[in-house]
Amino acid sequence: MSKNKIQIFDTTLRDGEQVPGCKLNTEQKVIIAKQLDKLGVDVIEAGFPVSSPGDFKSVEAISKIVKNATVCGLTRSVENDIKVAGEALKHAVKPRIHTGIGTSDSHINHKFKSNKEDIIQRAFAAVKYAKSFVEDVEFYAEDAGRTDNEYLARVCEAAIKAGATVLNIPDTTGYCLPSEYGAKIKYLKENVKGIEKAILSCHCHNDLGLATANSIEGVINGARQIECTINGIGERAGNTALEEVVMVLKQHPYLNLDTNINTQMLYGLSQLVSDSMGIYTQPNKAIVGANAFAHSSGIHQDGVIKNRATYEIIDPKDVGVTESAIVLTARSGRAALAYRAKNVGYELTKLQLDDVYANFLSFADRKKEVNDNDIHQIIETSNVYQQIKSA
Ligand code: KIV
Ligand code: ZN
Repeated sequence: MSKNKIQIFDTTLRDGEQVPGCKLNTEQKVIIAKQLDKLGVDVIEAGFPVSSPGDFKSVEAISKIVKNATVCGLTRSVENDIKVAGEALKHAVKPRIHTGIGTSDSHINHKFKSNKEDIIQRAFAAVKYAKSFVEDVEFYAEDAGRTDNEYLARVCEAAIKAGATVLNIPDTTGYCLPSEYGAKIKYLKENVKGIEKAILSCHCHNDLGLATANSIEGVINGARQIECTINGIGERAGNTALEEVVMVLKQHPYLNLDTNINTQMLYGLSQLVSDSMGIYTQPNKAIVGANAFAHSSGIHQDGVIKNRATYEIIDPKDVGVTESAIVLTARSGRAALAYRAKNVGYELTKLQLDDVYANFLSFADRKKEVNDNDIHQIIETSNVYQQIKSA
């Protein structure tokens, strides 16, 4: 693996599917997993096998059909979880067990009613046991975002000693600032003995809207894997959005960090996941929202018609969107109207456009958005229709 390649670990089917009311059946999960494999993700977290017979079946079915990506199953630091995950993954070409334990004071004192040394021992034992099933074991330190760095480094060292290949540093509650999360990754890179034997992974939640920024700070500071979901779906405010981190890295080539993702599949995958789960993506969602490439104010429309790059930093085709949309509203100018009229077959002179535009404004004031049928109606009822028709 190149030093600057960022592994994309997709957890749409595990952390993403934890959205209330969005349970997928095995068939739907297999369809999504096949598309994720084609998209070029490096790892597919297919589920939490011990959690239910349905999840076990999905992880098993995905393990059988995925050709390129590593297939991963989640566990707690509990022997039976790990054994069941090993069983569910046994057909995978590249299986990975993802095991771990909470490391913040809050998790140690309240969830486990334990102490720091005991947690280190449990982490070590879980990774060691997982290694008896698969070679590739990822360890997560749950709530690492609120775990003090010195202790976190000791937990990571124990996981590496037991054979962990990846160390996941989750900001489980979405609490960290980007500078803080970046500094955490840097601290671990510089202070964990044996860190060269594993890669660090960012797993950020979006409770403060910082998941993408935190993941990017993580990789700038030395992490080499990002855990994310399509459309950023996940518990509470969700996880890091796959399409966002991938496009941030693509649009900023000077960072010298890239992924294996075929970005032209992003929009299609976004639609597939939202249709399968029945969660509709907000229109202003970065990269894949319905308005991500739509321009509605006159000033912006004029700029985009003259040169797309005036108001767009991404070519919509790069993410699988056919073209930018010029949306006609009462805020649109003549340039937008002329452009849309031309698309439906009318080449208007300047004088004709002045007349049609007046008709358009009174129509648009009555209607939120003017569509192609409306354009025909506006032109047909204008004073200059006979001239336009005979031209
Ligand atoms: O957010 C989190 O801490 C997780 C772990 C279970 C990896 O999803
Ligand atoms: Zn999570």
